[in-house]
Amino acid sequence: MGNKALCLFICPLFAVVMQLVQVQAEMDQNGELIWRDNLNPTLVWWTPFTGVFSEYKTCGQLKCFFTADKSYLSNLHVNKTAVLFYGSDFRTENLPVFSRNSQIWSLLHEESPKNNPILCHEEVLNLFNFTSTFSRFSTEPITLQYLRDLKQLTRLDEFISTSNKNSFLQDGLAPVIYIQSDCDTPSDRDTFVRELATHIKVDSYGRCLNNKKLPSHLKNGVEGMDHPDLRSLVARYKFALAIENAACEDYITEKLWRPLTLGSVPLYWGSPTVSDWMPNTNSIIDIRKFNSPEELAQHLKSLLENDKQYEKHLEHKLDGKISNKLLKYTMDNRAWGVGNDEDKINFIENFECSVCRTLHRLNEDDSPTTADVRHYNCKAPVTVMQSLGGAGTNRTSKVKSHEYSSWLEEWHRAKLEAQKLRKLLETGSYSPPTYHQDVLDYLIEKGHFKKFPPSLREEL
Ligand SMILES: *[C@@H]1O[C@H](CO)[C@@H](O)[C@H](O)[C@H]1NC(C)=O
Ligand SMILES: *[C@@H]1O[C@H](CO)[C@@H](O)[C@H](O)[C@H]1NC(C)=O
Ligand SMILES: *[C@@H]1O[C@H](CO)[C@@H](O)[C@H](O)[C@H]1NC(C)=O
Repeated sequence: MGNKALCLFICPLFAVVMQLVQVQAEMDQNGELIWRDNLNPTLVWWTPFTGVFSEYKTCGQLKCFFTADKSYLSNLHVNKTAVLFYGSDFRTENLPVFSRNSQIWSLLHEESPKNNPILCHEEVLNLFNFTSTFSRFSTEPITLQYLRDLKQLTRLDEFISTSNKNSFLQDGLAPVIYIQSDCDTPSDRDTFVRELATHIKVDSYGRCLNNKKLPSHLKNGVEGMDHPDLRSLVARYKFALAIENAACEDYITEKLWRPLTLGSVPLYWGSPTVSDWMPNTNSIIDIRKFNSPEELAQHLKSLLENDKQYEKHLEHKLDGKISNKLLKYTMDNRAWGVGNDEDKINFIENFECSVCRTLHRLNEDDSPTTADVRHYNCKAPVTVMQSLGGAGTNRTSKVKSHEYSSWLEEWHRAKLEAQKLRKLLETGSYSPPTYHQDVLDYLIEKGHFKKFPPSLREEL
């Protein structure tokens, strides 16, 4: 039975039901089903993400239709639609090719550029009208995504006092803990930690620079990281290395929040704007401020000798103090929750509902809104070693920092690809089947392979 025959039976019945909810299904000349909903916007997940195939959801008083069925986009006769993309799955060779005049393109992305560097570039961010990223400048920021609530910062149930930490040190625990199992990152953190460890003892439990064993029940990736036994292990250390895989403004992950909430002082490298979000001015030790790993080690040693100076980093625990107004304001006012916060929706539902509300409010005479580079806010990759002491000059380090890195090459390649993509879209010549060849031609034209000859990559 073809579509047409099937519809003879079903469509009239369907139409009656749908009429009641302002939705109409009918057929066009080609026998394709047309979907009309004049009241509720339709949001199509271009990169399926929520596991929901098609359903209406309510956001407060408002209702929207969410679907992972792309045919709704080409089929749609309603005027309020959005296309939703999850950043890690955003693929330039697979974009919607139909007219997008009335569509809101929306980006949800909480990951660093490590897994999709194209999103760093203005030409690609300009494709979106709505964003939800860690950047405070995104439409619906999720900057404090890894902080459950302010209580985490001041609670003392897992906190270990300085005198107890001192006795752990006496028993042979290192002053510094490092747990990392992703060893190849744009920040090249292992090169820094390897040298630091020649000046001060570092206990390393992850796959990277491993010198300590974790009990087997903690070895399991994400589950292990949230295990109370792991938390109590971290809490025993005076300092914890917290080095992000890339440095983007406002990109702050659980690598920092875990030690901070446990009362182990984070040795932090990552977001250049991190201090805007910390409970107090002294809450972290900023790796960037030191000229070398050795200089940091000397500073840490001086803190090991002086409990009073050390405890200045722990005001949030010892005095229950949170002096940062932006942090308090943001936490008190955010509409979404983390983890098992049952009173609140999570950041994904918040994204869906924010776009839903935007569509409901959208009027024909609204001026267009377009995301810019600050909606993601990631610059070209630098390594920890390159960023030390400001420009990283006068390093006492013996480790040669890479002049070349595959991450830097990928960033430059992505920049050119973003330019080409933009041109193709603007001239209406974007075509998935020829896309890769078009980009390759452009890379050659722009001398990309002269600047980054393949031999550089092979030498690594
Ligand atoms: C949306 O569609 C409705 C019904 O077809 C129409 O009355 C309205 O003017 C349209 N609005 C926009 C913004 O195009
Ligand atoms: C969305 O962004 C595109 C590309 O910048 C732009 O052409 C369009 O007008 C914007 N739409 C809205 C509704 O803001
Ligand atoms: C580097 O070292 C030289 C000589 O010790 C000094 O004059 C210069 O100011 C230093 N530069 C930086 C950026 O620290």
